[in-house]
Amino acid sequence: MSCVRVLLMFGLFALCGSRGAAALPEPKDLPSKPELPDPLVMLDGTKVTTKEQWNEKRRPELKQLFQHYMYGTLPAKSEVKATILHTDTKAFGGKATLTEVALSAIDKHSFRLLVVVPNERKGKVGCFVGPNFSANHTLVDDPKIVIPEGWMYPNYPGVKNNKASEEGRGKLKEVWNLEQSIDRGYAVATFYNGDIDPDRADVRGGIRSLLPPTLETTSIACWAWGVHRAVDYLLTLPSIDEKKLVAVGHSRLGKTAILAAAMDERLAIAIPHQAGCGGTAPSRGKVGESVKQINERFPHWFNANFKQFSNDTAKIPFDQHSLVALCAPRPVLFSNAKEDSWANPDGQFEVLQAADPVYRFLGVSGLEAKEVPPLGKLSAGKLGYFIREGKHSMSKVDWQAFLDFADHHFRRNREESIDG
Ligand code: GCU
Repeated sequence: MSCVRVLLMFGLFALCGSRGAAALPEPKDLPSKPELPDPLVMLDGTKVTTKEQWNEKRRPELKQLFQHYMYGTLPAKSEVKATILHTDTKAFGGKATLTEVALSAIDKHSFRLLVVVPNERKGKVGCFVGPNFSANHTLVDDPKIVIPEGWMYPNYPGVKNNKASEEGRGKLKEVWNLEQSIDRGYAVATFYNGDIDPDRADVRGGIRSLLPPTLETTSIACWAWGVHRAVDYLLTLPSIDEKKLVAVGHSRLGKTAILAAAMDERLAIAIPHQAGCGGTAPSRGKVGESVKQINERFPHWFNANFKQFSNDTAKIPFDQHSLVALCAPRPVLFSNAKEDSWANPDGQFEVLQAADPVYRFLGVSGLEAKEVPPLGKLSAGKLGYFIREGKHSMSKVDWQAFLDFADHHFRRNREESIDG
């Protein structure tokens, strides 16, 4: 490569690196790309040819683009203060220690993290972490778990007039299946997403009203921030293996899980379950929920720029495969259900196929499956895929796939480090 070209390239990178959000084009001025844009090409057209370029230029650029054109800015990191609310060292018949802890990272705000850790363990354990829809008290039988006072989704057990009640206690154990993870040797940490930001377009609560008014953020970005603060806390626990944190979430909270992992390398694996449009399905996809529909129904999930793509998704300067690419070389599992066409399971497989070149570029394997695997059969490559019978839900069978996927990769990592 000529000296001039090298200098020119470095000049461009320097420009890209220092480019502020203000310098990014208006959505309408972006070039039209009907196909999924190549993740290995920078916004200015420069091809990424080295790992250094990927790590130092393209990854930061993609992080900026996703926030600027879609999810809004993730609130800033701030120190987490933890207050243990209660502990039960004999949960699940003595198999686990259950703790509920109030985490506060923003003045006048806290959210409650439920943490269950297996008692029988040889060393540190892996931990699943993610938000839930129905609040901690529904996921386990424990009279001490705090019942949230804020707004709750209707149609969950014990919820009346959007308020939780005692009646909901332990009624949704089969959604997170905490005991199953304990039996498999994993810890799990979860919080109610509404404790961070109630899922409402009209009324704000949680952290949103406490953030600087100039910060353009969204509910999904705030929930992902919540995952990051939960990770801050988990890393202070001697029982948790800092190299084995798995981001997990269902549907809109699966969108949150993949965003959280893309933005934070402390999360070793991402499991966005049935995340669909705005998460793991292609925004350019023609099946299931469209960008227009999601923007209209859930305006608070994405920012103002993203609304401008409602009728012209070809102008989005990335697609969801680039969010997966931001997780590379870490393992990512997309899991789905056959009848959940709203989440576009086949389109999600194509997203993994389109992310695969970045994994290969970084020198690791990617998507091992050549086609969508048979129902109920986990394809556990670095880019994993799972689809089962049935509908949109999170169930025991799904968790079995999550646990198998985590086992597969954590064991492999151990073998690699022993070999190496
Ligand atoms: C709606 C929405 C989806 C979302 C889902 C959920 O169906 O359209 O985008 O994933 O809710 O969060 O359950």
